[in-house]
Amino acid sequence: MSQPTPPLAKRLDGMRSSAIRDLLKLTARADIISLAGGLPDAELMPRDRIAVAADAALADRSRLQYTESPGWGPLREVLAARESTRMGRTVAVDEVFVTHGSQQALSLLAEVLLDPGALVVVEDPAYVGALQVFHAAGARIVAVPLDSEGMRLDALRELLAAGERPAVVHTVSNFHNPGGVTMSPQRRAELGALADAYGFWVIEDDPYGELWFDQPSPAPVATYSPNVIRLSSTSKILAPTLRAGWMVAPTRVCRAVELLKQGADLCGSAFTQQIAADLLADTDWLTAHVDSIRTVYGARARALVDAVRTRFGDRVVSTDAAGGMFVWVDFTDGTDTQALLPRALEAGVAYVPGNAFAVSTDYTHSMRLCFTTSDTTALETAVDRLAKAHAES
Ligand SMILES: Cc1ncc(COP(=O)(O)O)c(C=O)c1O
Repeated sequence: MSQPTPPLAKRLDGMRSSAIRDLLKLTARADIISLAGGLPDAELMPRDRIAVAADAALADRSRLQYTESPGWGPLREVLAARESTRMGRTVAVDEVFVTHGSQQALSLLAEVLLDPGALVVVEDPAYVGALQVFHAAGARIVAVPLDSEGMRLDALRELLAAGERPAVVHTVSNFHNPGGVTMSPQRRAELGALADAYGFWVIEDDPYGELWFDQPSPAPVATYSPNVIRLSSTSKILAPTLRAGWMVAPTRVCRAVELLKQGADLCGSAFTQQIAADLLADTDWLTAHVDSIRTVYGARARALVDAVRTRFGDRVVSTDAAGGMFVWVDFTDGTDTQALLPRALEAGVAYVPGNAFAVSTDYTHSMRLCFTTSDTTALETAVDRLAKAHAES
């Protein structure tokens, strides 16, 4: 008799590996210019400054010890001060909770805020890491489209008017991944008002807000309602390896997250959290460092968008890339970006087809381009190659 195979939990049914991660394996070839990855440029990560901070951290043996679940105290203090400036009010240390990247904040919040079957409203196209978390939590996911001003609140209002009652609305408010757009100040105020009126949580997922190119990003959605939980991270301004993300949330949410964090990993790393605190507190250095990232990414973004518009003209509509790491391009000539991909790879360029981020709309004619890890010359070559593959299709 064959032996029974022990089953995996039902919640894994229907979960799939991220199409993007699978694609990245293909694009590791040296001859391919990849606009597919979503990584910050390692050349711009402050390795030497991190080494100085690491040395300082190791001078104190207590940094090798477990730390408190909500995060190493001095890091929470630095974050509370920075968030107070950003939010225009005093943010108490008790409202700041440090997580293993902002991805862990999403995962812990899903457990704290969602019962199985709860409704979560996401943006379409969506940040895939959030979709994975909400699927795993057994949520019912409904998507609201984006336009140039961010989440379409008329569509959210329609859902509410039809009797839908979300537990959570998730938004990437600044320089959307993958959509490239930023929510307008009017919509931020309106979303805050809706959260108050209907009593739902908003998760404002903001890892890109500091990477603006021309003008600072608007005041956070969290300034408009106490129901907004704001997430951010050092991954895009310092280095992802620190895994230092955080949330600003009401203390009762932080206390609930603490219970779950203890079960998940006891606590984060006092070592990397001290490094993050050291760099974030060094304000003159940090300002110059973030400015240099903005300058480099800004030039790359402009080079990419200019090349796309010059090469494709009115056959595409592209976002402007006012910040962040991504440009979203829609083909207006019926090009199927999934079908184009093998030819693009042959021509030596990779991108992520829009359908990898799709929730309700299929985004057959769209693609996400990442401009952070190639210089301007490589970006222009990449667009030439894309145009060649497109012309042959
Ligand atoms: C919108 C968004 N949220 C969260 C994350 C997770 O970032 P981290 O866990 O490195 O802070 C990412 C990463 O790319 C992202 O794009």
